[in-house]
Amino acid sequence: MAQKMIIDTDPGVDDAMAIFFALRSPELDVIGLTTVFGNVHTDLATTNALRLLEIAGRTDIPVAKGADDPLAGPFKGPVPFVHGDDGQGNANLPAPRSRPIDQPAAAFIVEQIMAAPGEITLVPIGPLTNIALALRLEPRIAQNVKQVVLMGGNALCPGNATPAAEANIHNDPEAADIVFGAGWPVTMVGLDVTHQVNMTPEHFERYAASPDPLAQHIARIVPHYRAYFERANPGMRGIYVHDSSAIAYVIDPTLFETRQWPLRVETQGFSRGKTWPAIGTGAEQLPAAWRNRPPVNVCVGVDAKRLIALETGRLTQPA
Ligand code: RIB
Ligand code: CA
Repeated sequence: MAQKMIIDTDPGVDDAMAIFFALRSPELDVIGLTTVFGNVHTDLATTNALRLLEIAGRTDIPVAKGADDPLAGPFKGPVPFVHGDDGQGNANLPAPRSRPIDQPAAAFIVEQIMAAPGEITLVPIGPLTNIALALRLEPRIAQNVKQVVLMGGNALCPGNATPAAEANIHNDPEAADIVFGAGWPVTMVGLDVTHQVNMTPEHFERYAASPDPLAQHIARIVPHYRAYFERANPGMRGIYVHDSSAIAYVIDPTLFETRQWPLRVETQGFSRGKTWPAIGTGAEQLPAAWRNRPPVNVCVGVDAKRLIALETGRLTQPA
């Protein structure tokens, strides 16, 4: 039985790769996309989500627009130097013909989870605002979701949005702290592992050579994204696989090594957005900030070669 999945997304080049990876995976049944600010403003994230589903011929999948701003204040703005002005590598795609549903993202998430207890996997691959709002709307989703697998955070490594913080968490630290404290089965697929998953130009050549329109779109949007990574990381070739790594976890958790730790999110000062697991301190010494916090399943290792083979295998011809 395919796992029912809602992807909360800020498309975003790597979001598009993750969504297409999920749509091409028979183990998964994507029942909805919910949109959020982050790589782009939420309106454009919504437009891009609609565009991606039209490219995939899956306009049967509903798109629900989410929050325009984080919980604690205005959105600081998009990152065109990473994902392009259009969030799709400046591919200048036509406007979508389809439209989002009227139901807001948080209400959609609540309705779907409560209607199918234990069946829905929630995959946030952007800031966690919609997820926190869904918990506020109906706290019982924590007991009724199958699992939450999110791309975000950095437990044991530096950030990418700042030296301290990973972009999705940095965009809404208050929401992230709520999500990591909700007592549900949540897995953090953070920079600790996604910075080990490097997709190279040889992989992109396979996307370009594939007859699959989804692969063709990826080949079209990735150059702008790759140029950012190669500017930001001298000597690097290609990109880090962020959002798709969360999809890969849902398909095959054995790709990852994990640890379970209580985890807090810094919301103050220059480390705002840093995810702090309670590592190394025995239970009797645990400071109040971490005491009585539920464990989070934190990914600390990954079989990068096998992950990339899984993802490229779903969208391209064998090498
Ligand atoms: O830090 C990487 C994350 O931030 C990814 O989800 C990427 O799409 C951006 O949203
Ligand atoms: Ca994203």
